[in-house]
Amino acid sequence: MKVVHTIEDLRDQLRGQLNVAFVPTMGNLHQGHLSLMKLARQHGDPVVASIFVNRLQFGPNEDFDKYPRTLASDIEKLERERDVYVLFAPNEKEMYPEPQSFQIQPPSDLGGILEGEFRPGFFTGVSTVVLKLFSCVSPRVAVFGKKDYQQLMVVRNMVRQFQLPVQILAHETVRDTDGLALSSRNVYLQPAERAEAPQLYATLQAVQDAVRSGNTQVADIEGTAARRLTDRGWAVDYIALRRQRDLSIPDAAALAAGEPLVVLGAAKLGATRLIDNLELQIKG
Ligand code: PAF
Repeated sequence: MKVVHTIEDLRDQLRGQLNVAFVPTMGNLHQGHLSLMKLARQHGDPVVASIFVNRLQFGPNEDFDKYPRTLASDIEKLERERDVYVLFAPNEKEMYPEPQSFQIQPPSDLGGILEGEFRPGFFTGVSTVVLKLFSCVSPRVAVFGKKDYQQLMVVRNMVRQFQLPVQILAHETVRDTDGLALSSRNVYLQPAERAEAPQLYATLQAVQDAVRSGNTQVADIEGTAARRLTDRGWAVDYIALRRQRDLSIPDAAALAAGEPLVVLGAAKLGATRLIDNLELQIKG
């Protein structure tokens, strides 16, 4: 695997390549990321991964400074898996040599809700860096995890509206055996919090059970689910039952008709904020 730190070296490595599969990451790689690389390998050649902790997508009181930066062990993991041909690991000066005053502003009905409401500017930062990474890598396909469901949707919509020549592929969320979605931020969890953390996914499953049992009252279902976590000591940002197609709020008729739904959750355990989601399987 070649490790490059500049856009010039990256472009040199990729000159003439028309079938690049790309996996953007912020590093501290876990099995979830490695599965994205495997999927990329099935859909393109060569596979390019990036590791860049993007300041633009962190709020002023968020964890940018303490976000785990583990480049040496990330490289070892990638070398071991042998799926990636080029790792692009730029520093901040390379990606943002001047203040990034041109930015991508996702529409508020998608980028301003859920994560966008609790993390203002987050999707602007994500869209801006993803567009910039696409311009550096020129991938034919790019792989994103469904764990960041709203991010995936924002990226898909950006690609569609800007008619970018890249196909977006989604990989299912990879979970630990107890259900906890793998995330770079799981390293922040204290042992007791780690033991409690699967309750977020369990709560999303409880929402699925409620819909399966015929409850069509969205606010009631969400309220019960949020209380389930609050009673266990979590600080809940949202548990939200939404339409899969656009993350709008479904009405009772949509639930009764079995429209494809997803439940998304974000909540804090101590100082650690976790997100997760579940696409509801209602029929069959
Ligand atoms: O999901 C992530 O790790 C980041 O949001 C991404 C897509 C690499 C952009 O910084």
